[in-house]
Amino acid sequence: MDSALTAEARSLLASTRATLKELAEEGVEQFERRDDAAFDLRPRVDAPAAPESDPAPARSQQARATQSLEDVRLELGECTRCPLGEGRNRIVFGDGNPDAALMFIGEGPGKEEDRQGLPFVGRAGELLTQMIELGLEIPRSEVYICNIVKCRPPNNRTPQPDEVSTCKPFLDGQIEAVKPRTIVALGRPATSLLLGRDIAISKVRGTWHEYRGIPLMPTFHPAFLLRQYTDQNRRVVWEDLKAALARSRQ
Ligand code: URA
Repeated sequence: MDSALTAEARSLLASTRATLKELAEEGVEQFERRDDAAFDLRPRVDAPAAPESDPAPARSQQARATQSLEDVRLELGECTRCPLGEGRNRIVFGDGNPDAALMFIGEGPGKEEDRQGLPFVGRAGELLTQMIELGLEIPRSEVYICNIVKCRPPNNRTPQPDEVSTCKPFLDGQIEAVKPRTIVALGRPATSLLLGRDIAISKVRGTWHEYRGIPLMPTFHPAFLLRQYTDQNRRVVWEDLKAALARSRQ
């Protein structure tokens, strides 16, 4: 093997080791094989409807437009609309300013979030908090933070399409209640959901989109950044966040 290849192999191995260590710390004990369909977050036409006996029926556009965050949380209740409800300890609804100009949307609670009932309080959360407080120089409490699913997926796996589509009305309710001026989508699952198509985050990050008329900036998930903590990745996320903050202030 030539020396360039050896160096690349070493660096790949180091990055894989770091990833496995981080996943173990997050409570991942095993991996599941996933086919491509698992990445398709668009609601499936044959997705099962929420059972009649669920805590609340689907909301109409009209009702959603007038709901506060508390209303959305009440409607969510002790949700068992999808299988994630069975494995969670706590629902992780959201955290922050109900009138935030800037809203961050991640993938789903991890082990620490499930324990505390708050989004982004584990290692990835610490990095996100630093990016907000030390990078953007605003208190975390000034923004609103939530996830596309409110319950921890087993082993921190990516949420399944049915889980995501079952939870989506509540995310939409949160967006309509907060009415942020700008949304930051963190990582592939959140961005794919909000754009309605499966995306490659490295291709769409840093470019402007819209969700329900609200400017949307996709960027790398902080957990990815923890694994690939390169100058280049830090720089691009920093640029994305600065652009999002500036737009939220326009
Ligand atoms: N990762 C997420 O996407 N959300 C959290 O709340 C924590 C980690």
